Amino acid sequence: MGRLIVVSNRTPAPGERTQPAGGLTVGLYDAVQTRDSLWFGWSGEQCEDALDRPVMEDRAGNVTYATFDMTPRQYDRFYLNFSNGVLWPLCHYRTQLIRYTREDCEAYYEANAVFADRLVPLLKEDDTIWIHDYHLFPLAEMLRDRGVKGRIGFFLHIPFPPWSVARLLPQLQRLLKGLAGCDRIGVQTPEDAQNLRGCFAEYGLKAEVEAVPIGIDPIRFRQQAIESASTEDVEQIVDSLVGKRLIIGVDRLDYSKGLPERMRGYEMLLKNYPEYRGKVTFLQITPVSRTGVESYRLLKEELDGLVGTINGAYGTPDWVPIRYTTWPISRNVLAGLYRVSDVGYITPLRDGMNLVAKEFIAAQDSKDPGVLVLSRFAGAAPEMPEALQVNPLDAEGMADALHAALTMDVQTRHEAWSALYGEVSRNTAGSWAKQFLDSLEASRT
Ligand code: UDP
Ligand code: G6P
Repeated sequence: MGRLIVVSNRTPAPGERTQPAGGLTVGLYDAVQTRDSLWFGWSGEQCEDALDRPVMEDRAGNVTYATFDMTPRQYDRFYLNFSNGVLWPLCHYRTQLIRYTREDCEAYYEANAVFADRLVPLLKEDDTIWIHDYHLFPLAEMLRDRGVKGRIGFFLHIPFPPWSVARLLPQLQRLLKGLAGCDRIGVQTPEDAQNLRGCFAEYGLKAEVEAVPIGIDPIRFRQQAIESASTEDVEQIVDSLVGKRLIIGVDRLDYSKGLPERMRGYEMLLKNYPEYRGKVTFLQITPVSRTGVESYRLLKEELDGLVGTINGAYGTPDWVPIRYTTWPISRNVLAGLYRVSDVGYITPLRDGMNLVAKEFIAAQDSKDPGVLVLSRFAGAAPEMPEALQVNPLDAEGMADALHAALTMDVQTRHEAWSALYGEVSRNTAGSWAKQFLDSLEASRT
């Protein structure tokens, strides 16, 4: 079997391989460990002379990490403006947040050409190439133009909208034609697959699109959770709760995550069910993300204000309703925090998958499991029907679900958790990669 070449804009940081936070690096990292692999992408650094600097290589286990720096222009126009100021809002159905310019669009194609030019010399004939996410839609076609003959697969970690939304993108046809250079395209849910197929059909393009939902490594994560729950870090947090029930949310600070709506749902719990005042704590861990994009900065201002308003209105001198942090916490510590929480409160407005939902389930104590309150718009929702599913726009509905979660008897909690843990164990990061790569490698002989 040839090597696996993983290509993504974001690559794991050398120190801690699952940081920075983000489902792509976490899910893929769990998946690539078992095969001789090369992981190629951005180093996370930017500098003026980036184009003159060589690709840096660094080997750990079976994986060689080959990374390169970006110029400030690439960072601004390719990463921030086009990838995260145009494609991200489009794919998350937030069309009013799109800020399109032709110059950014051209910079996106130029940056993809840099990926292609730098990758080609590293390739061998029998490599299987697997490209990831919306930063790199045109890359497959660019590799083909440079003579690459091997198998090329693509996985989209975020949603794909229907034609009625997608067609707002100027040059959509060019983007999809580039993507059609792949032998196989994976997306997270059947809905995304249907939408993407529909868009290809509008332009008469042929592509193999399949829904293959990503998972985690539940056994390893569960073990981490058990160990982490009895560390000093986590025990101190539990002690500080002095018996209060704990509701937890963990998300990059992103408008797709429904954070203001989530705060309003919690506020409604305190309003409609006053018996919880002073008896619950909502811990929201929200590392800032993409702060170079205006919509992210505005969201942070909104959220900072909302948390302050709710804490001011409902808090007492000895009780803060919401604990809110905006810096990343290591995944090991998170694992322990999920385990000691009573409720996982995960309510995105739209999300490709949402690995946090799966991690919360993997981390629970099987004898006394917590309850997952999950948005029906998370990519994980179709696989997790036993969660308490909510619509994040319905604050009363969210409050009722939190109340149901906090009062659920242990047998009902156990039944729901067992079914959810069964699904999280069936569909892992490893089986996700295997399923996609098996069908990719069978697609050409
Ligand atoms: N995460 C982390 N530290 C944080 C916040 C999140 O390690 O402070 C991890 C989290 O455990 C999960 C990933 O980042 O593995 C987020 O993935 P998800 O699919 O939920 O969302 P994304 O960030 O990809 O939109
Ligand atoms: C999501 C995207 C990834 C991205 C991650 C973190 O998971 O699907 O492609 O890497 O968010 O975002 P960032 O902009 O920091 O890479």
